[in-house]
Amino acid sequence: MEKTIEQIKEEALKELEAASDSESIKAISVRYLGRKGAVTRFLRNISSLPLEIRPEAGKKANETKKTLEALFNKALKQFATASYEVAGEIDVSLPGRALHQGSLHPITQISHQICNIFIRLGFDVAEGPEVETDYYNFEALNIPKNHPARDMQDTFYISKNVVLRTHTSPTQPRIMEKQKPPVRVVAPGKVYRCDSDLTHTPMFHQVEGFLVDENVSFGDLKGILTTFAHQMFDKETSLRFRPSFFPFTEPSAEVDIRCVICKGKGCRVCSNTGWLEVLGAGMVHPAVFENVGYNTTRYTGFAFGMGVERIAMLKYGIDDIRKYFENDLRFLRQF
Ligand code: DAH
Repeated sequence: MEKTIEQIKEEALKELEAASDSESIKAISVRYLGRKGAVTRFLRNISSLPLEIRPEAGKKANETKKTLEALFNKALKQFATASYEVAGEIDVSLPGRALHQGSLHPITQISHQICNIFIRLGFDVAEGPEVETDYYNFEALNIPKNHPARDMQDTFYISKNVVLRTHTSPTQPRIMEKQKPPVRVVAPGKVYRCDSDLTHTPMFHQVEGFLVDENVSFGDLKGILTTFAHQMFDKETSLRFRPSFFPFTEPSAEVDIRCVICKGKGCRVCSNTGWLEVLGAGMVHPAVFENVGYNTTRYTGFAFGMGVERIAMLKYGIDDIRKYFENDLRFLRQF
């Protein structure tokens, strides 16, 4: 005998109860409501039933169809919600996405660290303009026009007498012009040179430092720079002063620190010399003092200039300077 619509409904409900995921509910739906499904077949066969029960059976079958449809849909939705399948609905139980906290660029951080060491040693902090006159960038620093020392730096000229400063040293005459000794100043900032490779970028950062007073000696310079190196790197860091030439200092030196990577044994970073050049320094040339109106018999002073990227590369062991300027967040977030 054919199943009654009640029997069909009962079976469907039983199967629905046992279903454990949306796939099986879809399958059940097809088995009962699909083109060849049990309910559909029942409806199709109504015409073969005895005339007197046809209306009642048709009504019941249609009701059953609707009820099952509603139940299947409801169950599907429940399962979908549980497995986060419903598009466009917000699942409040998902963990939130962590917000990244912004931080200072590693170069800014190192620049601050450098300045802070000198602040603790009694230095003031000052800044000068990045667009600089030929006078302060060169002339006041004892680098006259056509002086071969101008070739040491590939200058970006804005006009005949205006340049992008090639170093932070112009802060020396600018500040000395305004301030009588004693002066102790560090001046951080951006500088520009027409140069670009693994260890050079057209823009980079320097920190300039200078101290002018009575009886300032090269020994004071050594003491200050040694203290700086110990605080910036570590207490074992030793310094080496190599005679050098800068037009604005006499005598001049290039200062190396014992390689922070191999501790002086020799490695790729220090080209097996055991030493790394970190700054230029010297005793301020009397010609600079004359340009700013200082009494050259009464005052002496020292000055130094260092590259911030260079210090940062050594501190963090990064050998490609360009990494600092690509602004790849995966790189920057490590600091
Ligand atoms: N200005 C020099 C440069 O950029 C660095 C320097 C050398 C600065 C000696 C100084 C100094 O103050 O005394 O190469």
